[in-house]
Amino acid sequence: MANVAEHYEKHLARYYSWLFGGFNDTVEANRHFFIVKKLIPGKTRIAIDLGSGPGFQSIALAQLGFSVLAFDLSQTMLDELKSNSERLQITPIKDDLLNFASHSPESIELCICMGDTLTHLDSFEKVTSLFADVYQALGTGGKFVLVFRDLVPELKGVDRFIPVKNDPDTLFTCFLEYEAEHVKVNDMIYTKSQDGWKLDVSCYRKLRIPLEWVRRELLDLGFTICLCENNKGMITFIASK
Ligand SMILES: C[S@@+](CC[C@H](N)C(=O)[O-])C[C@H]1O[C@@H](n2cnc3c(N)ncnc32)[C@H](O)[C@@H]1O
Repeated sequence: MANVAEHYEKHLARYYSWLFGGFNDTVEANRHFFIVKKLIPGKTRIAIDLGSGPGFQSIALAQLGFSVLAFDLSQTMLDELKSNSERLQITPIKDDLLNFASHSPESIELCICMGDTLTHLDSFEKVTSLFADVYQALGTGGKFVLVFRDLVPELKGVDRFIPVKNDPDTLFTCFLEYEAEHVKVNDMIYTKSQDGWKLDVSCYRKLRIPLEWVRRELLDLGFTICLCENNKGMITFIASK
């Protein structure tokens, strides 16, 4: 089984933006989310994006006037982010998001970990430690935004096959295997070439993180919960220090 970095670098990164359809539309949807949730720049304007991918959130935040530090382990993702954000104030950093504090200045206003990045951490201990570091790094009134998939309800039988996206040359299907604390995600990608169809499969683990567990962890650290919702299996938290 691949670790997360290998999975993205060797398998998923080159298809990632394609999975979402229009790049600009996805950035715009995120920009809309930040505006509606009043996550706009204040004094320091410093935001950090944990697991930025190709920059759907980093670019939206920079367009709104934030200066963004974007962390990701995948060079392919960060290269895509760079090529889409040349004139914006975004600093891509290739490192484990768990190390963000060693790169970050003081007085961070906003920390985001969106698009299901949180479930890529391999243990609850690491999530707890990340939350504590974020609390420590934020200035008073700073916000922490989490968006991740609810992987707690277990799909059974053929429901574990998820048709993710297809076009005439590429078929992307996912197969899930449930363990006590994790889900094994098998990404199967068929691509069409002159020699016919070729199948690439790669597998990695995601953490099954319960909403109530996150709520308790954030409250125990001293965060105030401004928003906590589960919308069709996507969990969103906005917490304030
Ligand atoms: C599902 S994507 C989300 C990307 C983006 N936030 C979005 O919403 O499209 C997860 C991203 O997190 C990165 N990632 C996963 N674990 C990481 C870690 N421990 N440190 C840094 N990046 C990580 C992956 O390389 C990938 O780009």
